[in-house]
Amino acid sequence: MTETPAPATTPSAYSGPDRVLSGVQPSGALHLGNYLGALTKFVRLQDEVECFFCVVDLHAITVWQDPALLTAQTREIAAAYLAAGVDPKKAAIFPQSAVRAHAELAWIFNCVARLGWLDRMTQFKEKSGKNKERSSVGLYTYPVLQAADILVYKATRVPVGEDQKQHLELTRDIAAKFNNDFAAPGFFPLTEPLIDGPGARVMSLRDGAAKMSKSDPSDNSRINLMDDADTIAQKIRKARTDPEPLPEDLETLKGRAEADNLVGIYAALAGITKAEVLAQYGGQGFGSFKPALADLAVAVMGPIGERMRRLMGDPAEIDRILADGAERARIVADPVVEETKRLVGFWPGR
Ligand code: AMP
Ligand code: TRP
Repeated sequence: MTETPAPATTPSAYSGPDRVLSGVQPSGALHLGNYLGALTKFVRLQDEVECFFCVVDLHAITVWQDPALLTAQTREIAAAYLAAGVDPKKAAIFPQSAVRAHAELAWIFNCVARLGWLDRMTQFKEKSGKNKERSSVGLYTYPVLQAADILVYKATRVPVGEDQKQHLELTRDIAAKFNNDFAAPGFFPLTEPLIDGPGARVMSLRDGAAKMSKSDPSDNSRINLMDDADTIAQKIRKARTDPEPLPEDLETLKGRAEADNLVGIYAALAGITKAEVLAQYGGQGFGSFKPALADLAVAVMGPIGERMRRLMGDPAEIDRILADGAERARIVADPVVEETKRLVGFWPGR
């Protein structure tokens, strides 16, 4: 085999440590999509690499959040991280707003990112809908803050669901432009998104064409992390399907969005591939597949809901974990902001 020659310019001259960052908004109850798309990956990564998992409250307020609820929602996301198996001794868990460096770097990045880049962001278009004029400026510049969350730790990898792909591309564009504009090659890494596996895009249980989402008005469209066993089983029983039995091969599954989604959920929950699920259930109807899926979902999700409820009964313990995480996060983030400010040419005193 002939060796491929190294490219003349490597895509990233970054040579710092491998680090992982991700975040979830405290803007409502978490669901199976968040769990499979994000939280399960957090748990896997914490044994491999230095990890930072924040609760992105600055992002949450880009749409209205009741101040009387926001703190509780922040603790709830922290409880979800912990209940899913994130170990605060391994990974830093903290509220984004507790680490000032995020907002500070975001301002600098607002001056690096171009309007044309943000104009292409599909999430802004979805969230602002027909009401663009009345959306907050924060909602528009949301992906710039996300880039700051990531790059303030010089994170090299970011585990997220597929809906975040475009924001991760923007993060790379911002890093590359900053490094180039300020003649600092390799200062920020070109972060890799970690979007793989059957859980990267979990669809609604009521509509195979729509993403499972917190904001769907139908609670039957999603399985919430805090649903009890009966509710989980009932939602799966009621999930929309077609009348055909499951196929034997992936190709035939493709045109059947609802069936594909349930097979994907099974695969992600069991930690196997969709092909392996079909090898086991191909030829069987939903009358036998749905109860098997319900049993699996209850076995995996039930204990997480219970742990969450227990953790939320002890907010002081959650606050202790968040404060400790914030302190550890600041130790990494503050010097990065200081270096960035120096590169920009800000007055170096204090
Ligand atoms: P959010 O709740 O929007 O802050 O999302 C938190 C994390 O969950 C992000 O990594 C999302 O990409 C991921 N996520 C949200 N919805 C889904 C879904 N339906 N399927 C897979 N991942 C998702
Ligand atoms: N935008 C992400 C979402 O809605 C949340 C988020 C904010 C995030 N900052 C991040 C995810 C940094 C990964 C890394 O799901």
